[in-house]
Amino acid sequence: MSRLIVVSNRVPVPEKGKAAPAGGLAVALQAALKERGGIWMGWSGKSSGEEETPQIKTIIDGKITYALTDLTDRDVEEYYHGFANRVLWPTFHYRIDLAEYGRKEMSGYFRVNRFFAQRLAPLLKPDDVIWVQDYHLIPLASELRKMGIKNRIGFFLHIPLPPADVLLAMPVYDQIIEGLAQYDLVGFQTDYDLANFVGALVREGIGETLEDGYFKSHNRIFKTGAYPISIETAAFAAYAKRAVNNAMVKKAASSIIGHDLVIGVDRLDYSKGIPQRLDAYERFILANPAYQGNVSYLQVTPKSRSEVPEYEAMQRQLAEQAGRVNGELGTVDWVPIRYMTRSVARPILAGLYRLAKVGLVTPMRDGMNLVAKEYIAAQDPDDPGVLILSRFAGAARELKSALLVNPYDTEGVANAIARALSMPLEERKERWQKMMDHLLVHDVTEWCNNFMDDLTHVPQEGDHAALL
Ligand code: ADP
Ligand code: G6P
Repeated sequence: MSRLIVVSNRVPVPEKGKAAPAGGLAVALQAALKERGGIWMGWSGKSSGEEETPQIKTIIDGKITYALTDLTDRDVEEYYHGFANRVLWPTFHYRIDLAEYGRKEMSGYFRVNRFFAQRLAPLLKPDDVIWVQDYHLIPLASELRKMGIKNRIGFFLHIPLPPADVLLAMPVYDQIIEGLAQYDLVGFQTDYDLANFVGALVREGIGETLEDGYFKSHNRIFKTGAYPISIETAAFAAYAKRAVNNAMVKKAASSIIGHDLVIGVDRLDYSKGIPQRLDAYERFILANPAYQGNVSYLQVTPKSRSEVPEYEAMQRQLAEQAGRVNGELGTVDWVPIRYMTRSVARPILAGLYRLAKVGLVTPMRDGMNLVAKEYIAAQDPDDPGVLILSRFAGAARELKSALLVNPYDTEGVANAIARALSMPLEERKERWQKMMDHLLVHDVTEWCNNFMDDLTHVPQEGDHAALL
């Protein structure tokens, strides 16, 4: 088996006594690599100030070798806060109104990708398979190719890929697409994202569909496909079952005796639709006064990308909104919304999901959304809760037995909460079982194997020439 080299911006190096960072990429790849082993290269999460750091630092943990590099302050600002999180993230989540395009940030993005390629190249052996993750590193293959690297290189986009008119609003969309065309396999979360990609390129006359998922663009032939990411379903279910004995979960359980618990778990991000969700919950309480004092909504929302202005603004907005609803609806012995901005260890998270009668997962747009899958995996088979899921999360393509909602429709989400809380046991079991059966088969190991199988079977750089 070829050695696997994963490259991503965020690398969750395990730290004793610290909860793993929130974020689907880190959670899923950690699970996938734990079994297969390999090198995981990326940003240490630290800044070296003005100094460019000469050395890659390696940390070995089980079968995984982490190869980490610091970035300079300027790199972090232009590449991570700037182009990745103020241009690519909002644009790919259909929020062109929030995109702040700047040439300095764009050139920082390409510069840091070149830097990653320079750091990675000396680690490579000829038959290594390279798997690049997410929007931070789209130009990485192109930089590696310029250095003569002929290895198979795959790319997986964890976030959505919007339709042509949204994509083209980004001034450098053509360079981004050219970057994608340098890979041997380009994977998306869902068939919708794949269709958007293919549709945009074909419409603009810069791509051509071939057989078997192959695609031709920018004088290259590469494979494309949908590979819906997933979770360690069985392990997560086991965590949740054991979590009843966890002290923090016991505390939470005793605090909701006689109450129904509704849970929301998201990184603090505008794509997650948290303010709209709080509105819907407030509307639900106002429309169903019998639930006043009898339901608690726990929103666990670790802060994320706080240096980016839109995220900072959202932190303030959410704190104010939760405070306002609690002030207006709360009573001496009832707090309608419990709002936490901390990360929680995964076994505890699993236990909290299991306590909740309703899982509220209502992003305005999401590549996949692992929280939806974790909520299902964590349920008690004899008394499962109900998942309310946005139709604009990639997970909605698979979890069709959830109560699917439109997060822009506040009243619709409010009604879904009422329906979920009063759903008969038989219906809850039937819906849950279908989704759990699906997730037990389509777990993170399957995701990783499917992608790797395809990547190891595409023609290697050089063999493409015959196909062109
Ligand atoms: P995203 O990748 O956009 O953050 P996902 O729902 O796909 O969204 O993945 C989020 C991951 O982060 C999940 O695995 C979830 O369990 C984890 N997570 C979210 N919030 C917390 C939290 N407060 N504490 C610990 N893990 C969290
Ligand atoms: C999403 C992205 C990941 C990212 C994660 C956390 O899951 O797809 O690439 O790592 O959010 O965001 P952060 O900026 O903290 O890495």
